[in-house]
Amino acid sequence: MNKLRLGILASGGGTNLQSIIDRCHDNSIDAEIVVVISNNQDAGALQRAEKAGISTLCIDHRTFAAREDFDREVVAALQAAQVELVVLAGFMRIISQVFLDAYPQQIINIHPALLPSFPGLHVQKKALEYGAKFSGCTVHFVDGGVDTGAIITQAVVPILDDDTEDSLAARILEQEHKIYPQAIQLIAQNKLRIAGRRVQVTSSQEPTEQGLINPPLPLAD
Ligand code: GRF
Repeated sequence: MNKLRLGILASGGGTNLQSIIDRCHDNSIDAEIVVVISNNQDAGALQRAEKAGISTLCIDHRTFAAREDFDREVVAALQAAQVELVVLAGFMRIISQVFLDAYPQQIINIHPALLPSFPGLHVQKKALEYGAKFSGCTVHFVDGGVDTGAIITQAVVPILDDDTEDSLAARILEQEHKIYPQAIQLIAQNKLRIAGRRVQVTSSQEPTEQGLINPPLPLAD
């Protein structure tokens, strides 16, 4: 079976990239990373990719006058590597229409909150301050908005009374590392049925029917 050719875009440390590298290596997903691109020369993601023998590229957005010019350069690099699915993994740039047109419904992102709650930045802090009892993470297709595209998968993470922004972010990240490779595999296996905003999985697995309650029931003492 042909492996799905992934191009990963990352600006930071790259733990999500690492989880995808690991799942490609142990063959639990039918995909291969053909290029990793960063806008930040110091991104840990570039080092992780180099260590794994993946070809890397740094394209510094600051050297382009317009967002579209930067995106054209990125798209050219992705096309040169024959990328089939673009995976944003902590990529701190907004994608322009030029990019969306080049890869229609072929760009995915991971966000550390349960969308549509808390889009944008500093979302673990916002969820804590709001007093939400659950947060989590979301893999979604990328459209023209900020974290607004159709949702593919989500994982729920309870918010604990003694959570800090960092402790919550760490527990959410653990789930990100599970659901991002899972979403890629669903796409690789052509298991997604997309109808407008609703993305459904053609799978024999029964979905969870139970609700989650936080704090849990029954209440002790
Ligand atoms: C993750 O929390 C991801 O959800 C967000 O940026 C962070 C990237 O972390 N989009 P890493 O670089 O993958 O460790």
